Amino acid sequence: MTPYKLYHFNSLASTQDKAKEFAKKGMCNVIIVADTQTKGRGRFKRKWFSAKGGLWMSILLKPENTQNLQYLTFSAAVSVVNAIKKITNLNTSIKWPNDVHYKGKKLCGILTEGIFGSENFAVVGIGLNVNQNNLPNEIKKTAVSLKMITNQNLDTKKLAKSIIDGFFILYDKYYNRNKTDKILKIWKTYCDTINKNVRVITKTKKLKGKAIGIDNDCNLLLKLKNNKVIKIVEGDINVRY
Ligand code: BTN
Repeated sequence: MTPYKLYHFNSLASTQDKAKEFAKKGMCNVIIVADTQTKGRGRFKRKWFSAKGGLWMSILLKPENTQNLQYLTFSAAVSVVNAIKKITNLNTSIKWPNDVHYKGKKLCGILTEGIFGSENFAVVGIGLNVNQNNLPNEIKKTAVSLKMITNQNLDTKKLAKSIIDGFFILYDKYYNRNKTDKILKIWKTYCDTINKNVRVITKTKKLKGKAIGIDNDCNLLLKLKNNKVIKIVEGDINVRY
């Protein structure tokens, strides 16, 4: 397995930004973990609530292939589901493209960012709600922590290790060997978005339809009322569970 080095901080603005600082120094295969983040961010530059108790970490990589970083997001999501199962015995699912949820409530979000230049890097940011007793009002209805489900305090270090080990297995075995089809196959067994009626919100429009599949570029295939199938490259979806 790819050897990695883990750096732990009490507080950071964002583990993503620290990873980018490390990339500038040419470092890679580095994990950055912070107990809290003051400027944690999610997709579409949204605020990511990062109080103490959660697992906030970024994996800095220098992959040979940076064509479809979405497969790194998919690998991370699979690793999170597996780690949660191993440590808590809970069954969680993946909602396209990057959420791990329990009964429709978001437990984990993943943000993969590329750094392109003379050398290319990728930063896979993972935010997992672990030991928070409650969540801010803004996300109370839509999110949950593992402790709120299990009533147990969990070992975030153990969870992190399990996620990282699982991630690097997929990274070494499939991502770096251009076997992304294998990642997609595994990811699909954890994803419960397919065959559901969904509402899609993209930057420019809102759509309703049935999620009928995922293509090889990790786009969601949405069948509209008029039977036309369109590709959703980026967006949020609402599913009724
Ligand atoms: C999302 O669902 O929108 C993605 C959320 C990603 C949050 C994580 S927490 C660790 C890393 N640092 C950040 O600032 N964001 C990611």
